[in-house]
Amino acid sequence: MIIDTHTHLDAHAFDEDREAIIRRAREAGVDRMINIGFNRETIPTTIELAETYDFIYAAVGWHPVDSIHMKPEDLEWIASLCTHEKVVAIGEIGLDYHWDTSPKDVQQRVFRQQIGLAREVGKPIVIHNRDAHEDIVNILKEERAEEVGGVMHCFSGSWETARQCLDLGFYISLGGPVTFKNARVPKEVLKHVPLDRLLIETDCPYLAPHPNRGKRNEPSYVRYVAEAAAEMKGKSLEEISRITTENAEKCFRLR
Ligand code: NI
Repeated sequence: MIIDTHTHLDAHAFDEDREAIIRRAREAGVDRMINIGFNRETIPTTIELAETYDFIYAAVGWHPVDSIHMKPEDLEWIASLCTHEKVVAIGEIGLDYHWDTSPKDVQQRVFRQQIGLAREVGKPIVIHNRDAHEDIVNILKEERAEEVGGVMHCFSGSWETARQCLDLGFYISLGGPVTFKNARVPKEVLKHVPLDRLLIETDCPYLAPHPNRGKRNEPSYVRYVAEAAAEMKGKSLEEISRITTENAEKCFRLR
């Protein structure tokens, strides 16, 4: 049994065969999934999935790329959804300095507001970090994010950055890129991350792991990430599945 801790099953890429993909995931041993709603369009579809399938949980938040469009009522809306029994986290939130769609100061304000919300409602946070390692760590510290914890999703930073996030109590989640042949940095993070702080994910439909790199990703492929982790850590696939499942249950308080 494996938990895919980061999916976008409501994405249009799955419009033709969503049910079949979800069934295939379950048949492949992916018994639970956490779907991420990150804007006005994907939050309702994420909630709908979580209400349809008892094994799909929801995270809701405002993506940094769209920060510029977040209105005060959007934050209130997200806050109101936190009482929903299937909403397990605030996210994905964070900073994205790769796409130039929202100014840095706006991204940082929206990120801080949502960490504040997470602390208010006592939910863990799902962090999206692209090319913003230093600011992410500083803001997590300044906003006392360690009080709620959470996960660094599809972590792409160095081991040095990972260590700072671990010090703040965060889990490190690895996805498809760790299976790529040339993925020196993610492999190094995987090598060093303590087993009790490791999560796995697909981020589907994006970032499909080897040998499906470049194709549409789906939750059943999380197995390739688990296999990479098993190999690096010298564990069996079953052990890695059990350990990362327990970690996910703890991180997202699934029990
Ligand atoms: Ni995502």
